[in-house]
Amino acid sequence: MASLVRTAFRKDLFLGKVAIVTGGGTGIGRAITKELAELGCRVVIASRKRETLESAAAEINHTLSKDVGGAALPPLRVFPFQCNIRSEEQVEALMKYAVEKHGRIDYLVNNGGGQFMSPVSEISAKGWHAVIDTNLTGTFYCLKHAYHAWMKDHGGSIVNIIVDMVKGFPGMAHTGAARAGVENLTKSMALEWSPSKIRINCIAPGVIYSETAAANYPDPETFNRSLHIIPARRLGCPEEVSGAVCFLLSPAAAYITGCTIPVDGGQGIYRSPWVIQDHEGFPVELHSEVALPPKGEATEPGPSE
Ligand code: ADE
Repeated sequence: MASLVRTAFRKDLFLGKVAIVTGGGTGIGRAITKELAELGCRVVIASRKRETLESAAAEINHTLSKDVGGAALPPLRVFPFQCNIRSEEQVEALMKYAVEKHGRIDYLVNNGGGQFMSPVSEISAKGWHAVIDTNLTGTFYCLKHAYHAWMKDHGGSIVNIIVDMVKGFPGMAHTGAARAGVENLTKSMALEWSPSKIRINCIAPGVIYSETAAANYPDPETFNRSLHIIPARRLGCPEEVSGAVCFLLSPAAAYITGCTIPVDGGQGIYRSPWVIQDHEGFPVELHSEVALPPKGEATEPGPSE
């Protein structure tokens, strides 16, 4: 049976390598897991939900190519490991498992995360801490323990999945703050860990449609409502994020560290999805004598002529 995984890369690119993908059983993480495994990598997928992980690993293992260039590949290349990244002990156990059972940790993809929509004024302390603990502190635990368990002495490549938050992240400010923290952490780690030959970069996905992502939003039209702010005029798919992750992990990116690649159809350099509620304008304060033109209507701009 031909493999169901499509890839732009050479099929033995990651043969003999071991990766950890947090949140690797669903959505973007699952696409990353599939492509890495299709390219010969052994992939440990980690998240809190054992059944989701186990069924994802079984399904992906079933779809993978069995050989490359006539040489047999290990039939099982995806391995589930239950781990709550908010717990430092559980993260330490994950890294220990990868080294003891699979012999090495070449790649770490920090993809596990979560958030909910809410204006800042309505976020409770509990909700705030939950999002920061998962997205920022959980990533810190994974980085620190992958470093101590393997990468400090052997090098490695790390990709942190963040979000496109160049213009702030109104409506989900907690995750914007956490992901901005991860982006800055990435730059610090790129510098601190360069002597260990560790490269570390971020991918910032834009609006990516997956069934997992859609299940988080009650209104199925939420995604399509973003189309007018995406220069590519379509949504992205998890496989398009995965291709960029594989590039950053691969030797093709050997001179790239501390950077962020947006995978967003141009959205980051275009318009914010946030609509400012109409109001009477900031008071001019100090310069009330300055003559401003009469106030017009604040309409959404149309396409330029
Ligand atoms: N994905 C979302 N939340 C997570 C958590 N706490 N641990 C691991 N993976 C996750």
